[in-house]
Amino acid sequence: MVDNEQQVPADPYSLQLADIDPAIPELFRKQYHWEYFKRLREEDPVHFVEGGEFGPYWSVTRFDDIVFVDTHHDLFSSYPSIGIGVPETDFEPPMFIAMDPPRHDEQRKAVQPVVAPQRLAEMESLIRSRVVEILDSLPVGEPFNWVERVSIELTTRMLATLFDFPFEDRARLTYWSDVSTSGPNVGGMISEQEREAILMECLEYFSRLWKERAEAPPKFDFISMLAHDPATRDMEPIEFLGNLILLIVGGNDTTRNSITGSVLALHENPAQFAKLRADTSLITSMVSEVIRWQTPLGHMRRKATQDVELGGKLIKKGDRVVMWYISGNRDEKAIDNPDDFIIDRANPRHHISFGFGIHRCMGNRLAEMQLRILWEEILQRFARIEVVGEPERVHSNFVMGYTSLPVVLHPV
Ligand code: HEM
Repeated sequence: MVDNEQQVPADPYSLQLADIDPAIPELFRKQYHWEYFKRLREEDPVHFVEGGEFGPYWSVTRFDDIVFVDTHHDLFSSYPSIGIGVPETDFEPPMFIAMDPPRHDEQRKAVQPVVAPQRLAEMESLIRSRVVEILDSLPVGEPFNWVERVSIELTTRMLATLFDFPFEDRARLTYWSDVSTSGPNVGGMISEQEREAILMECLEYFSRLWKERAEAPPKFDFISMLAHDPATRDMEPIEFLGNLILLIVGGNDTTRNSITGSVLALHENPAQFAKLRADTSLITSMVSEVIRWQTPLGHMRRKATQDVELGGKLIKKGDRVVMWYISGNRDEKAIDNPDDFIIDRANPRHHISFGFGIHRCMGNRLAEMQLRILWEEILQRFARIEVVGEPERVHSNFVMGYTSLPVVLHPV
């Protein structure tokens, strides 16, 4: 079958193996990508894509191979960027996710205390009060868009807290996050020029905050820590912008789409929802399962620093290598019944949604905590969250997300 509107074949077996390019963004929006990755895992787990919009690049689809690439940062560099494509312009603000040691380590260390266990414990009651506020403001018994009213609202409020950002302007954070992940280099819909102009506005706004924080005593927020740490306080403005984008996107899109994904997964799997209702101690493992099942970031990209053999293929120095987390999380060799959503798996954190190695997600515990608190409060208020229409999905091979999910709440 060929989809006439977009010309994307739903069936990967209708193509020659050599012609398969799993990065076509439309595949993800239409949810055809699952079968493509299945075929690649089975027949060509380290697959070379020669042409197409993003080629040439290597596509790595099995769990163990992805872990190998992610943990060998000496062989596979994150510099200068981690999206699949090569940006069309020179506008590529440096950020520590796209750096190698030692610079990466120094900059990560500067901001990591914001999400240290002690800080998270202190933040728990604030997050809970925001969750309660949002849930109690929702209409019961009538349809609304969950993405807008809950997922975006909650993650934006959280982000404003992490930056100590003016609360009334918090919608700007969501906007900048969306813009930064919608460039053409990951199949998004905003031109590189437009993206650059909007992100420069972001820099201008934050520069004011930076100046204020630099002149005040240090505090536990991202801007203050960047402004005071010896490794980051003398950064060029463009590097400040890069790290801001990293911290905005890191804490925003990913958690937002896990929140939406959790509602969808539990709606589609009523037996799992019943299990959760019967035993709320399963919330923690359910959250990990959602993050695996959703895989909010589809891939990360690396560049080979030398010739490397992987899966019997010779990757040449300088080649681009894409680790498809979205595929590794469905690898039957690493995870039992990977396509099934099972909230009480024996080892629920055994997934690669947060990556591995030195770049492993800095905010992973914070994201899990937000989801846990949200579901603790949901279960107290609602008997069920019914999905009443098709989800609308983001056009991207990077952000595995939703723009809308129509739901109706049923009270307990
Ligand atoms: C890095 C996923 C939430 C901040 C990453 C990476 C992934 C990821 C895949 C790259 C790993 C690699 O290259 O090996 C996710 C997912 C989240 C989430 C799925 C939610 C479910 C957050 C939150 C924050 C955050 C809430 C906010 C603090 C970061 C940062 C990095 C990162 C700063 C860069 C780490 C480094 O390069 O050392 N995340 N993330 N993330 N994430 Fe997250």
